[in-house]
Amino acid sequence: MKQNTVVTLAAMKARGEKISQLTCYDYTTARLMDQAGINMILVGDSLGMTMQGYADTLPVTLEEMIIYGRSVARGCRQAFVVVDMPFMTYQISPQQALENAGRLMKETGADAVKLEGGQGMCEQIRAITGAGIPVCAHIGMTPQSHHAFGGFKVQGKGEDGAARLLADALAVQEAGAFAVVLECVPPKLAALVTEKLDIITIGIGAGAGCDGQVLVYQDMLGMNGEHVPKFVQCFAQLGQVMTEAFQTYDSQVKEGAFPSPQQTYAKSDCSDDALARLAQGEQAAPLRLYSVL
Ligand code: KIV
Repeated sequence: MKQNTVVTLAAMKARGEKISQLTCYDYTTARLMDQAGINMILVGDSLGMTMQGYADTLPVTLEEMIIYGRSVARGCRQAFVVVDMPFMTYQISPQQALENAGRLMKETGADAVKLEGGQGMCEQIRAITGAGIPVCAHIGMTPQSHHAFGGFKVQGKGEDGAARLLADALAVQEAGAFAVVLECVPPKLAALVTEKLDIITIGIGAGAGCDGQVLVYQDMLGMNGEHVPKFVQCFAQLGQVMTEAFQTYDSQVKEGAFPSPQQTYAKSDCSDDALARLAQGEQAAPLRLYSVL
């Protein structure tokens, strides 16, 4: 059993310990995050943008989530892995949601699934959790609904918006979710929701009052150029480091400085005499592995 489970994560909330989560989409990065002690890893459908270059998450398919999810799950020994259910793989019916959540669990080796929506998705959450699959809900600014919101906008504004958000949070908890992501929610409201809920809240653009935090890893590593949302802190400038490394490689290849003798298999070269014979077109006797009559 992993070090991070639904039980240990709930216990962290009870002890007032904060939970770390990052998105991830590949094996190598998953191993690094796992070794760093990140508690939860989200294979987010944000991979539509970060890995595939789409403008939003809507084109991402279940098959794609399975491929990325599987790679991440293989890299995690201790981190709890959550895989996103992509657009239109759960909204149609509780049965569709259960079938696709089942595929994600069987075919990726993840520990839980995540879906977007509050009161309107409770039947789906009941169906999935009823089959023993942990569900993380996602409310507030839910990116799969950005067309309905008229953009990627802060949710839970004003008294009505706040009341709706709290009702969504209580509803997904009642339906059986073990966690809920609060995205782009005002900080005092997110803190209130966190206090009211027994399940863990994971914030993104929702202030420090949540039980845990999640960020898209390319954002927090400074790999996305100028496009950094207000709620992101860049913990490193890897974009710059990578670009400089690519430029150095490019010029060293062009100057012939790479590879140096150190990076070659010189000991395996045949003798200079043999190479000279080859250069003059003399052929070595062919190696016969078996003879034909
Ligand atoms: O897909 C994703 O990366 C997410 C996070 C932003 C919470 O849902």
